[in-house]
Amino acid sequence: MNRREFIKGAMTMTALAWANPIILVDAASQIKWWQKKPVYQIYPKSFLDTTGKGTGDLRGVINKLDYIKSLDAGAIWLTPIYPSPMVDNGYDISDYTGINPLFGTMEDFDELIDEAKERDIKIVMDLVFNHSSDQHPWFLESKSSRDNPKADWYIWRDEKTNWRSIFGGSAWEWCEERQQYYLHTFATQQPDLNWENPEVRQALFDAANFWLDKGVGGFRIDAIVYIKKPKIFADGAPDSPDGTCAIHNMTANTDGILDFLHEFKRKVFDGHDIFTVGEANSVKPEDLRYWVGADGVFDMLFEFSHVNVMFNNGDEIWHRSKPIKLSEFKKALSDSQRATRELWYPIYFENHDKPRSVNNFFPHGSDKILAAKAMATILFTLRGTPFIYQGEEIGLANTKFDSIDDYDDISSHGAYDLARADGLSDKEAMRFVQKFSRDNARTPMQWDSSKNAGFTSGKPWLFVHSDFKSCNVELEEKNPDSVLNFYRKLSAFRNSSEILLGGEYEELYPDNEEIFIFTRTLGEKKFITAVNFTTHDVKLPAQIFDGMKKIFGNYSDEKKYFRPTEAAVYGN
Ligand code: NOJ
Repeated sequence: MNRREFIKGAMTMTALAWANPIILVDAASQIKWWQKKPVYQIYPKSFLDTTGKGTGDLRGVINKLDYIKSLDAGAIWLTPIYPSPMVDNGYDISDYTGINPLFGTMEDFDELIDEAKERDIKIVMDLVFNHSSDQHPWFLESKSSRDNPKADWYIWRDEKTNWRSIFGGSAWEWCEERQQYYLHTFATQQPDLNWENPEVRQALFDAANFWLDKGVGGFRIDAIVYIKKPKIFADGAPDSPDGTCAIHNMTANTDGILDFLHEFKRKVFDGHDIFTVGEANSVKPEDLRYWVGADGVFDMLFEFSHVNVMFNNGDEIWHRSKPIKLSEFKKALSDSQRATRELWYPIYFENHDKPRSVNNFFPHGSDKILAAKAMATILFTLRGTPFIYQGEEIGLANTKFDSIDDYDDISSHGAYDLARADGLSDKEAMRFVQKFSRDNARTPMQWDSSKNAGFTSGKPWLFVHSDFKSCNVELEEKNPDSVLNFYRKLSAFRNSSEILLGGEYEELYPDNEEIFIFTRTLGEKKFITAVNFTTHDVKLPAQIFDGMKKIFGNYSDEKKYFRPTEAAVYGN
């Protein structure tokens, strides 16, 4: 439903009682299920291990369904659980319709779908269709000769270009058997599939339909902007001393990509009560309408503008990052909010690829618990479906390993090598790895104060964060003021407030470098969200709050100014 339909529905309601700020009205029933409730993202390898092998599994997810339900989530997005050599922790798939024994069996998966359904939660799968694993039977056949039936299922060339893969190093790998190079946008072990070949497309669509037949509630579609390659492969302007240029700038969003995607939609998504969210780094706000909504392809799009404000362009070179400027972060969010006024949007600040937001968006010295609640306040009051990444709801922070050898994340190694090649010392390069490593978000989930934070009885595959005795679910369950209970309250509040579900977004003071402040308005009713991103007090013109009453915030009392990291929501 678009905004106009929503407002019309809402205005006919009689139950706009404000005495209790939570407004339960029938208009909510007009909203699609995936717009109404947050999605909880699980990185299964780090969630809960039920066998003692040191890695999480599907039974661990089943065990925690009531916990996820307590956040009033409507769906769980599982990062890839398919058979995989795990070079990129599952984003290198060797069988699109199986379950990785590391995570369990197909019976476990079926049980997960059923148990989740009992709790009104849908399971959303991650489709990784830009590339497969180099161990996928398709690739093994493709590389075996130049004239086998799958010879052109991947991208083969006699000559290579100077493109640098996203994880670092040349994007081309020499194959002895074929005496040719193959293209890999990501790791060497993740060869790109050739979408120009209709058989490839059909095989991928069949795989997606296999999961629909199992009853999944939707898909998150990985790295989708890279599936269409340019007609002519040419060198790009080097942006690194080794003469390479970021592949992103050469292949992302190539003209014609939408034709492939519309076919995907027709052959897979259409006619199902599911949601789809494409991962689409650098789709511009003005182009969003071609990608999402009734005339687009997906229901929502993860674009990266707000989480990548510290980078100069789409290639995310960690050691060339700059400090975040609040006005730029706000602009990125506002641009997307405005561009999707008649569409829908996923709100997220964390996922398995990004640092923890309490470190990422707040200055050093900020109070971690206040910061976690401040981000939650934005997450639940912007317009769109909130995506909560495991651990975000208890305020997990970045980890810090001293040696590059302790990092598992493949991209951390590529970023470290690139920084060293650019002349940085080990110490300097490590500073950026510690700041941006994807392992920051992949340390085991912290369930309690017992050994390994209750994640595993064995040896965890990645170090548990050292703060687990003071930051874990069990402790936060017991504390009414915890980050976890703040999330629960906010989620319930947002899910039943039609102002937050459908109200108009407007940003105030966009140039202010200290406070993010915006309104959500539906008819006469209005909310104001304000968050102080500094470690000092900040004052705003009092008239903004005329006729408004504080509804909740991360400080229980109220002052005439905003204290460090203070977040508050006001309503009229
Ligand atoms: C995006 C995924 O989120 C990331 O984890 C993965 O490494 C790349 N795509 C490659 O599949």
